[in-house]
Amino acid sequence: MTKTDDIVEIKDLQTRFGDHVVHQDINLSVYRGEILTLIGGSGSGKTTLLRQMLGLEKPSHGSVRVFGKPARGASLNPQRKHIRNRSGVLFQQGALFSALTVFDNVALPLRELHTLSEPVIHDLVMIKLDMVAIAPEHAYKMPATLSGGMIKRVALARALALDPELLFLDEPTAGLDPELSESFVDLILTLRSEMDLTIVMVTHDLDTLVALSDRIAVLADQHVIIAGTLSEVCQHHHPFISSYFKSIRHKFDQRNPSESTWKTAPMPS
Ligand SMILES: Nc1ncnc2c1ncn2[C@@H]1O[C@H](COP(=O)(O)OP(=O)(O)O)[C@@H](O)[C@H]1O
Ligand SMILES: [Mg+2]
Repeated sequence: MTKTDDIVEIKDLQTRFGDHVVHQDINLSVYRGEILTLIGGSGSGKTTLLRQMLGLEKPSHGSVRVFGKPARGASLNPQRKHIRNRSGVLFQQGALFSALTVFDNVALPLRELHTLSEPVIHDLVMIKLDMVAIAPEHAYKMPATLSGGMIKRVALARALALDPELLFLDEPTAGLDPELSESFVDLILTLRSEMDLTIVMVTHDLDTLVALSDRIAVLADQHVIIAGTLSEVCQHHHPFISSYFKSIRHKFDQRNPSESTWKTAPMPS
C-alpha cells in the first residue's frame, strides 16, 4: 500500500487522563477500502481511539490524520467539516433521535448541508432507506415503534446519508440476535462494495469479527501490539491474544464443529 492509500494515519499517539496512561506510541493506518477492526480488553482504549479518529477527542501527544488532514481542529474549521462530510458513524446504541421520524432522522445530515431542496432530500432519504432494506411505509414511523434490527438499519442509513468514504461502526451487531446480526453483516458487505467504503469497527462479536475484518488491530498494554489479518493476529504471541482467541475458538468450535475456519489458522498455545 502506498501512503496515499492511508485514509487514517495515527502517528506516535499517546493518551493520558491525569496519571492514567491509556495509549502509548500508537502507530496505525487504515488503508483505503479495508475493514479494520479494533479489539482489546475493556478499558484498553478502543472507544477513545475511535473518538480521536472522529476528531471528538485530542490525543495528549502525536497526530491523527484523516484524508490527509488533522482530525482535530477548531470546530468551525472548514477542514473538520470536510472530514465530517466524508465520514459516517454508527454509534453503539443506534442513537436515533427519538423525537424525529425515521425519515427526519435520515434527512438530518442532508438538511444540515443547507444546499439541497426538500424534494431532492426526499428522494435521497428514500434511496438510503431502500439500500438498508427499510420499506417506504416505515419512513414516517417513530423510532420507539421499530424493532432493534430496524433501528440499526435506519441508523446505518443516516450514517450513509452523505455517501461517506469512511464509516465508523461501534459494536454494530451488539444487541442483535444471531440471525439479525448475520443479515446486518451481509448488508455491510454489500454496501461496502457498492459504495467503496473504508470501515473502522469495534466489535466483541466473534461472527462479526470473522465475517467482516480484513485486518484486526489489537490494543493491549497501552499499545497496538499487532495489526494484521486474522491468521497473523492468531500467530502473535501475547497473553491477551492467547486467551481472547482461545475462548472464542472454543465458542466457534462448539457452534460449527465440522467447519471450523480456526483450523486453518495456527493457534497460539
Ligand atoms: N474522558 C475521560 N476521562 C477520564 N478517563 C477516561 C475518559 N475517557 C476514557 N477514560 C478512561 O480511559 C480508558 C479507556 O477507555 P475506553 O476508550 O472507553 O476503553 P474501551 O472502549 O476499550 O473499553 C478507561 O480506563 C476509561 O476509564
Ligand atoms: Mg468502548
